[in-house]
Amino acid sequence: MSIIRSFIVLMSSLGCLAFLFACSTPQSTNTSNQEAATVEIDKQVHFLTPDGEDVVVSPGAYEVKIEKDGLRLIAEEGTGSESTVIDAEAAKHEESVTHPTAMMLSEEEDRQIITLLLPDGQRWEALGSESGVHSRAARRPRTASSQIKQHLTIRNKINLLRPQLTLSTVSVKYRGEKKTHHGRKSKSTWRLPVNDTHNSGSFTFSWAGYPGNRTLVPSKIGDIQNLVKRKQCCIKVLINGKETPAPRMSFGKSGTLQTTIQLSQARAKTWPKTVKVMVTKGQRKWESAVTKIYATPVSYYASVLHQIFSHDRCTTCHTLGTHDKIVEMHQTRLGAASYPHENNPEAKPHNPTFCGTCHNAANLNNEWFSPSASQGINWKGWNASQVCHKVTGPFKNKDGVVEPPFDHARFDHHFHDDPRILWAVSDGMTPFGNDLNVPLPDNLNAWFNKVDPWVDAGTPCPTYSKFSHRNRGTLPRNLVPQR
Ligand code: HEC
Ligand code: HEC
Repeated sequence: MSIIRSFIVLMSSLGCLAFLFACSTPQSTNTSNQEAATVEIDKQVHFLTPDGEDVVVSPGAYEVKIEKDGLRLIAEEGTGSESTVIDAEAAKHEESVTHPTAMMLSEEEDRQIITLLLPDGQRWEALGSESGVHSRAARRPRTASSQIKQHLTIRNKINLLRPQLTLSTVSVKYRGEKKTHHGRKSKSTWRLPVNDTHNSGSFTFSWAGYPGNRTLVPSKIGDIQNLVKRKQCCIKVLINGKETPAPRMSFGKSGTLQTTIQLSQARAKTWPKTVKVMVTKGQRKWESAVTKIYATPVSYYASVLHQIFSHDRCTTCHTLGTHDKIVEMHQTRLGAASYPHENNPEAKPHNPTFCGTCHNAANLNNEWFSPSASQGINWKGWNASQVCHKVTGPFKNKDGVVEPPFDHARFDHHFHDDPRILWAVSDGMTPFGNDLNVPLPDNLNAWFNKVDPWVDAGTPCPTYSKFSHRNRGTLPRNLVPQR
């Protein structure tokens, strides 16, 4: 089985070579002029720490260094402080490398291997998995040396190629937003801030000459100029190897060729993607290397929704988790004479019958009540990440029973039909006719337009770290590391 598997991996790698830059792996990371070994991880991969904890590594480029009990991964574009150590095992190799060289070998979903080759014939191998299932039995290093050799050969060949055009800037703009988000080049790859919720956006890539061939300014080349002026066919932008329809073209200030495309299915979690430009005019041809771009997720929840979720209209009710809190809030606002309920046991959470004696507007639908403190949703003062993870995590009902997180249908229903939420977002009218301020006065459609895309995107939450550690206690049982 594993022989067949390696064969397939090998064949698909050869396929890449045949189309010269046609696919994204392996990458043209040039290790010959940089001392640090770098590895590119394209999907979230679970590894184990030396202590047997699960750590999820986000997609990106990482420097790999040997540490006493494993391999240290250092986020390449970070400040160096963002790093983690993963468990690794020693083995040997027969390649001649002049400096530490790292590679990522994806054999199958649950065999994602980072291999670090040292000049002295030592090899370190860390085994990860996409699903998070770690099996002890499979942990022995057993990557075929032919596979390592194959990987190095392809890498070297790609390094020899010198395309004429090179990516010089990348940016994205979303409909309805003023801001343009700009990408940055790190040592070996690119990073672009990409929204975790908007599905489509307008992406601009600009192209200059290849380093070492700086004299090549696309706007100075007559043929390219003509193509752009007449908006002709022959400039193609390929994303993940596929041609995108109708790029818009222009020249940037410094004479770079700018190509703008509309991408759908472009949420942060669909990256990294590769981009390549090809310009043809008769016999002449200019092209770039396949260039990989990783996403730095931009949280929609944090930038658009959190201000609503943390608005007083939502949080005040969520703070009324006990009899005392309910009485105190009302007495402070109305005076004890208007709210003589300090000894009334009915003034308690989850009691719409009592609350409805005053909060009885028809659109409240007899569903006016506050959550019990034991449900843990009193999120006043929490940050965006905390509220988001709470709301999308397991839900505790009023009896303290933990239920699975809301699914798409429940969120949809909750945000569209729950009279408490609708009241808080755009109404704010209280029993004796006091009109409290609300985030979106009389504009429920604005609320639906803001919240629906987030629910459709699967309610993504802000992530601030490249590494999320989870200890065994918090892991679902089938994901507990088997050590
Ligand atoms: C009148 C009181 C009240 C107001 C106002 C209110 N909520 Fe709630 N909210 C509740 C109650 C009660 C529950 C728990 C329902 C249950 O146990 O079935 C709840 C539950 C929730 C949940 C589910 C929590 C989870 O763990 O999944 C979300 C999300 C939520 N509210 C969001 C909001 C937002 C956003 C607003 C403001 C726009 C808001 N609520 C305003 C009373 C309120
Ligand atoms: C005696 C009438 C009365 C009863 C009973 C009553 N309320 Fe109120 N409630 C009011 C009034 C009046 C206001 C408006 C206060 C103001 O103008 O600031 C109010 C305001 C609120 C608010 C809005 C606070 C804000 O700033 O967003 C919430 C939430 C609330 N009540 C929850 C409850 C709950 C839960 C119950 C049942 C346990 C309840 N109320 C029972 C009269 C009542």
